[in-house]
Amino acid sequence: MNLLVTGGCGFIGANFIRLLLDQPDFSGHIINVDCLTYAGNPENLADIEKSAGDRYTFIKADICDRKTMASIFDDHAIDTVCHFAAESHVDRSIVSPDAFIQTNINGTFTLLELCRERKGRLQRFHHISTDEVYGSLGKDGYFHEETPYQPSSPYSASKAASDHLVRAYHTTYGLPATISNCSNNYGPFQFPEKLIPLMICNALEGKRLPVYGDGKNVRDWLYVTDHCRAVWEIIKNGKDGETYNIGGNCEMENIRLVETICDALDQIARPLADNKPRKSLITFVKDRPGHDRRYAIDATKLKEHLGWIPATSIETGIRATIDWYLDHKEWMERVKSGAYRSWIQMQYQ
Ligand code: NAD
Ligand code: TYD
Repeated sequence: MNLLVTGGCGFIGANFIRLLLDQPDFSGHIINVDCLTYAGNPENLADIEKSAGDRYTFIKADICDRKTMASIFDDHAIDTVCHFAAESHVDRSIVSPDAFIQTNINGTFTLLELCRERKGRLQRFHHISTDEVYGSLGKDGYFHEETPYQPSSPYSASKAASDHLVRAYHTTYGLPATISNCSNNYGPFQFPEKLIPLMICNALEGKRLPVYGDGKNVRDWLYVTDHCRAVWEIIKNGKDGETYNIGGNCEMENIRLVETICDALDQIARPLADNKPRKSLITFVKDRPGHDRRYAIDATKLKEHLGWIPATSIETGIRATIDWYLDHKEWMERVKSGAYRSWIQMQYQ
């Protein structure tokens, strides 16, 4: 397998590459293409670059750049694609949606066209998407693979558009495509703008913990390694044209999650300067516009078709994540520093 992973220097992509290189049933080559936006960090795979030899290649490129991407497909005889690259943060999409339309829609379209031109060689195009395409749930019920799309944010609308394109390329051109829509991921290497790493970083530094609205929005938390296992299973054994929902079976209100993080840090991290409990840092702030109330995934199809279930409880996953951030304070400082970002850009020109 010559596997093109897009966005492999981001949070989930980096975890996926790390997991895959450890799988006994993967003996192929990984070509990681990432243009290193603020969220992409080759340091996440620096050890892999040293240890994996020719099983792993990193190329700095933009998935929207059709000419460069065509050379990559041909030079590396790409036969499988796992497409993670995206602009991924809802709040950023509300402030400036342009990059979301460009990468998430046009970038996906570019990859699909390149795959269509090379259809004879292509074994699988796997598209990573989100449960946010389905919109918001009320108190009850779950998202199923057949739930109608009703995206609320520019981010989820751009992901919905890309999902439709992938499906159309399967239906119209017979592209061997699969899609997975997963719930909120958490774990090592997540950029500290998303809820869990932001709260861990701020709580460690004694900064305020901004909770949107009344804090009662619910997300279904999925530990990133569980997600990556599911993706590998779909690439290997998923059926062309199928969509699979991936969920953590771990619903929690934001406020409870933030309190859990505060309590855990009070137990294991250095106390705050004033010795106050970290919960005292929680600050309710103005709600996000169009904020979806609840997400919850029914992942029965993945269990019945491919035998996958999430293995990590929220307690275990949160503790592992906190431990990782405590052990990687320098990583945290570096990804937050603008100087580091421009240095990294220069290294990979
Ligand atoms: P991330 O923001 O951490 O990483 C995205 C990566 O894509 C970065 O390395 C970035 O440099 C790269 N990238 C962005 N634009 C690019 C372009 N034009 N060309 C090449 N590379 C580009 O995102 P993530 O959290 O790892 O998410 C990965 C995928 O999973 C995305 O498609 C996202 O929509 C989806 N997803 C994420 C979550 C989550 O909770 N994080 C949940 C559901 C779905
Ligand atoms: P986020 O991690 O941005 O993921 P998504 O919007 O894709 O679900 O946010 C998770 C939840 O946490 C969401 O309900 C918004 C909320 N949230 C806060 O309350 N405060 C914050 O500072 C952030 C970033 C998110």
